Amino acid sequence: MDLSRFGKALAAAWERRTALRVRTDAYRLLNGAASGTPGLIIDSFAGHLVAYAYEKDPWVLQPGFADALAATTGAQSMALIDRGAKDESGREGGRILFGDVPEKAEVREGPLRFRVHPRHPRNVGLFLDTRRLREWLSGECVAQDALNLFSYSCSLGIAAGYGNSGNVVNVDVSARYLGWGKENLALNSLPEERMRFVKMDSGKYLDWAAKKGLGFDVVILDPPSFSRSEAGTFSFAKDYFRLAGACVRLLRPGGRLFAMTNYGGITPDRFRAQLETAIATEGRRIQAFARVRLPEDFDGAEDAGPSASTPAVEGTLLGFEARLV
Ligand SMILES: C[S@@+](CC[C@H](N)C(=O)[O-])C[C@H]1O[C@@H](n2cnc3c(N)ncnc32)[C@H](O)[C@@H]1O
Repeated sequence: MDLSRFGKALAAAWERRTALRVRTDAYRLLNGAASGTPGLIIDSFAGHLVAYAYEKDPWVLQPGFADALAATTGAQSMALIDRGAKDESGREGGRILFGDVPEKAEVREGPLRFRVHPRHPRNVGLFLDTRRLREWLSGECVAQDALNLFSYSCSLGIAAGYGNSGNVVNVDVSARYLGWGKENLALNSLPEERMRFVKMDSGKYLDWAAKKGLGFDVVILDPPSFSRSEAGTFSFAKDYFRLAGACVRLLRPGGRLFAMTNYGGITPDRFRAQLETAIATEGRRIQAFARVRLPEDFDGAEDAGPSASTPAVEGTLLGFEARLV
């Protein structure tokens, strides 16, 4: 990519995000090919840029590119995570392209605040692709009990708790990530008594909650494609729809299941069909089914494939909301 083509793509992307920047300072500035910058994704967190380069010799390292980014965006710092590197070197810590990349920063998203770690190569702490769901949760989830499985830094749980008189339960196997969720809770000054943090395998929690006869109005299922923990392994292929069925068991009448994945091996059509089967197997009927859309700063990446029957790209959010009768 030459510098002048890059400058044009960057200027256009910056312009397209003008309205979004009023709502949030955590957004995707460039989304690879969808933004005209193949092999390069850049996220912006409170003026600190984190770039992910997927090619062997990242062209963004050539003279002029970082200057163009600083000049257009006014960013304070920029880190590069080299995802094209064969060895682990680029993955261990970001290479700093300019400025002081802070260990921790605070971002705003509408009325919400989140702690992020811009230096961390894998765990910045906030998934930008689920922003639309957070917006829905923080605005519409009122007087509803919500269950947030595989909660990570609990951004979806915090959004569900905002302005909500119901209870929110976050479940994760990692005490460290739940601790991060507690930091996010404190940042948002939400009532502690209505937000629970449970260190447990999500599958085990679902079984336990069913035995206890617990019910929820909203259940969020957004696991990694694969994970290994002391509780065993989770894999999309083996476990996803079994867990989706167990989520359905806990949903009250009129309840909503938000079922999402970043797994690349399934088409949207097939994902939807298997969710429908899981719901029907539990003897429940669907009132409405809708796609969880990627936010505008992903520049239409979910529509890049030729049809709904093309497998999703690994790492791209695929999600549906099923509202039950
Ligand atoms: C990809 S993130 C989930 C993203 C999250 N839903 C969000 O919105 O930020 C992966 C999280 O799943 C957790 N995890 C992995 N396996 C788990 C399991 N079997 N039960 C509960 N949590 C698990 C990890 O500790 C990590 O926090």
